[in-house]
Amino acid sequence: MAGMVVHGAQWGDEGKGKIVDLLTEKAELIVRFHGGNNAGHTLVVDGEKTVLHLIPSGILHAGKRCAIGAGVVLDPQVFLAEVDALAAKGVDMSPARLAVSLRTHVIMPYHKLLDAAREAAKAGSKIGTTGRGIGPCYEDKASRVGIRAGDFLDEALLAAKIRHALAEKNALLVGLYGLAPVSADQVLTEILPLARRVTAYLADVPGLIGQAKAKGANILFEGAQGTHLDIDHGTYPFVTSSSCLAGNAASGTGCSIRDLGEVVSVVKAYTTRVGSGPFPTELSCPMGEHLQTAGAEFGATTGRKRRCGWLDMVLVREAVRLNGTTGLAVTKLDVLGGLPELKICTGYRYEGNDILYPPQREGALAAVTPLYETMPGWQEDISSCRSFDDLPEAAKRYLNRIEELAGAPITIISVGPGREETLCKKN
Ligand code: GDP
Ligand code: IMO
Ligand code: MG
Repeated sequence: MAGMVVHGAQWGDEGKGKIVDLLTEKAELIVRFHGGNNAGHTLVVDGEKTVLHLIPSGILHAGKRCAIGAGVVLDPQVFLAEVDALAAKGVDMSPARLAVSLRTHVIMPYHKLLDAAREAAKAGSKIGTTGRGIGPCYEDKASRVGIRAGDFLDEALLAAKIRHALAEKNALLVGLYGLAPVSADQVLTEILPLARRVTAYLADVPGLIGQAKAKGANILFEGAQGTHLDIDHGTYPFVTSSSCLAGNAASGTGCSIRDLGEVVSVVKAYTTRVGSGPFPTELSCPMGEHLQTAGAEFGATTGRKRRCGWLDMVLVREAVRLNGTTGLAVTKLDVLGGLPELKICTGYRYEGNDILYPPQREGALAAVTPLYETMPGWQEDISSCRSFDDLPEAAKRYLNRIEELAGAPITIISVGPGREETLCKKN
C-alpha cells in the first residue's frame, strides 16, 4: 500500500480538487481528513464543472471509494444536497462508494447562527469566515459537547446531547448576541430526517483504511484550506479552526503517520487569499485586478472575490518545512501568460533584517516588506502544453526557480482547469 497526502501550501484554493481528481486514477480509496463545507474544490472533467464542499474529489471516478474522516466537520444538509446533486448527474452515490466516519462531528443549526453572530459582532476585526459554522462546531468538539455522526444511530442520545448543548448556546445567542433562543424541538425537527438518511453512509473509516492497506491499494488523503490557514501554524487569528497540515491526515482519518507516504503540496503559481488577514505580496493595483480576472479568482464556496498577489515563496518554503513535501503541484501557470515580467517574493525585510521564513509572532506578517526577484514572462498560451519540454523557456525558468526556492521538486504542473490540462514531470 502507498499513501499520498494532497494539501494546500498557501491560503487555500490552490487547486487541490483538480489534483486529487487527477491522482484518483491511481488510487482506490480517497479520504478527506479535516475542514468542512468551508472548502470548495472544483473539478472540470470533459468540460463539465463540479464543485465539491464535503465529498472527496475522487468521487467522479467510477469504482473508487471515498470516505469522510473523523477530523472533518459535516453539515448533514450540505452533505445530502451534494449526494443528491451528484446522483442527479448519474454518479453512483451508494453507501458502497461513500463512507462517513461515526466519529465525524456534525455542524448543527446553532453553530451556523453563532458563526454569523460572532462575525457580525466583530465590526472592524472580522476573520471573514465562510459563515458555515465551522469554528463553533470544532469548539464543541474540543469542549466535548459535540454531536457526532454516530450519534444519529441513537435518537434518544442525540436529543439529550442537543438539549445539553443548547443550554449554553442559548445563553450566548440570547444574552450576548440578542438573538431569539433556539428550541431543541425545532433543531430535532430539522435534523432527524437528515440524520436518518446519513446513517446509511456511516462506516468505520479507520477499518476501511486498514482493509485498503492490507490489499496493497493506494490511498489518497485529501486536505482542505491551506497551510497558512492552519489553526496552529497559520496567520492566527485569521485562520480556520482545524489543522490543515499533512501530518493531520493520520489523526484526521484514523491511520498511522507511517501510512501517509508521499506529500503533494499544491501551490498556485501566484498567491490568493479569501477573507481577512495579512498578505505581504497582495497587489492592490491593476496587476492584482488582472490576476483576479485572468484567474477567475472568485471563492468556490462564498463567491467572494479572492485577493491576489505575486507568488510568495517564503510561505511556500514554510509549507515545505511544515508538511514534509515530497512533490509540488504547481497550478494555474497558464494565468501568468502574457505578462512582460513576473515577480517572486524570495524573502522578507522584517525589523531591519532579511528573513527567509515567516516571523513567528502574532501579527508580524503584517509588518514585513516582501523582497522580490523579477523574472521575464512569456507571451505564449501554454494551456495546450502537455510536457515540460513544450513550455516556453521563461515558464521553465519560473518553475525551476520555484523548485530552488522551495527546496522540493515539482512533480505536477497544471495549465488549465480541465483534468487533461496537466503535465506530469514524474509519475
Ligand atoms: P481548491 O479549493 O484548492 O480545490 O481550489 P478551488 O477549486 O477553490 O479553486 C481553484 C480554481 O482554479 C478552480 O476554479 C479550478 O477549476 C481552477 N483551476 C485549477 N487548476 C487550474 C489551472 O491550472 N489553470 C486554470 N486557469 N484554472 C485552474
Ligand atoms: P478550500 O478547501 C480559502 C478561510 C475563510 C476565512 C478563514 C476562516 O476551498 O481551499 P472558516 O469558515 O473556515 O472559519 O473561515 O478561512 N477559508 C478558506 N479560504 N479556501 C478554503 O477552502 C477556505 N476555507 C476557509 O475565507 O478567511
Ligand atoms: Mg476552494
